[in-house]
Amino acid sequence: MAVSSTGRSARATVFAPRIDELLRKYRGADLFRLEDDTVGVAGVDLMDSLLRSRPANTEERPTFKPVQGRPVTRPDAAALMQAVSADVRAALKKPLGDDVDLTGRWPHVAHVYLRDLVFGRESFRFRVLVDRRLELTPKLTWMAVAAGTAMLGKPGSEIPLSNLAARVLNAETYDDRRYAMYLYRRVAAPVCFTVSALVTNALWLSPDLDESVPNRDILLEALRLLPPSWNILRMASPEYPVVDDRIGVRDDVLMFPLLSHRDPRLWEDPDAFRPERWTGLDPDEQPGYLPFGHANERCWGRHMVMPLAERLLDIVRRDGLVVNPEQTVGKVELDGLLEVAGVRMVRR
Ligand code: HEM
Repeated sequence: MAVSSTGRSARATVFAPRIDELLRKYRGADLFRLEDDTVGVAGVDLMDSLLRSRPANTEERPTFKPVQGRPVTRPDAAALMQAVSADVRAALKKPLGDDVDLTGRWPHVAHVYLRDLVFGRESFRFRVLVDRRLELTPKLTWMAVAAGTAMLGKPGSEIPLSNLAARVLNAETYDDRRYAMYLYRRVAAPVCFTVSALVTNALWLSPDLDESVPNRDILLEALRLLPPSWNILRMASPEYPVVDDRIGVRDDVLMFPLLSHRDPRLWEDPDAFRPERWTGLDPDEQPGYLPFGHANERCWGRHMVMPLAERLLDIVRRDGLVVNPEQTVGKVELDGLLEVAGVRMVRR
């Protein structure tokens, strides 16, 4: 693994070799070949043109891609997002609470906190669906869904707790329940996974949580340097060679916000963690800044992400938590979600 600096902080971020290689070789490049059938793109204008040239297809949408061959309709997707948004809004109304202890290893601690906050009163068969261990293999997810679906009694025999769980309990057939339960997992899990990753990255990057620096600016800067969604994949399609003739008809295209977020042509002192650079800036107007995707189809969950992440930062500040000063190295593995693993939070 290779070491990269985190700016003003004494801590070093150690990226998995593939990510480190990308940063070393292709930062500032527009287009580069990664495999015989895959090109990488990091140029701001080229990413923009490619993402504008066609909408993402169903296979490219991780949340709402088909569930075991059954397509997720647009109204279903919208209803699910409304259900989880309502659950998050209800959670955010709760007081911060004096009995919360966020010391320990992050992102795990933050994940469990968010699970309990948003889905806490849910019965076990639902809670297990947002477990971090299910990430290990899709087979485990399938088993948890199948077991949970089979365990359910007749519709209506349980009191629905979250809006999301109510959708499962109201489904009439076994197939509909299983479908709803899969979607429960797809929509509930990111609330815990992505937000805990984002805040862990922010705490790792922040040398201190100076009172004068707004949470928003800390999070925007963390999303720039360590974007949890660090690449955007589009499958080969005829639109792409028209946009740029270096792209073949059979080439998949992997776009890298991770690289455009550190492009020296776009950012002053690109590797430095400087939340103050966001003062008065609109993140949606910054060329090459795509932590939540392209303007054409931005993340549907981002309005939930920021308030939940700010709530975690509020508790960290209130309780005077800091990264254990003895921890000077944080590892980022090669994974779908870019996060610093095992950050040890302690009381100051
Ligand atoms: C730190 C948190 C998050 C980040 C950085 C993030 C990032 C992104 C990005 C980059 C895209 C565009 C992907 C593309 O164009 O291929 C996207 C799309 C999307 N995101 Fe998020 N996201 C986050 C959290 C969430 C959450 C919590 C939810 C839902 C509960 C969510 C739901 C979606 C949906 C539904 C889409 C549209 C595509 C799809 O069906 O998957 N996101 N997100």
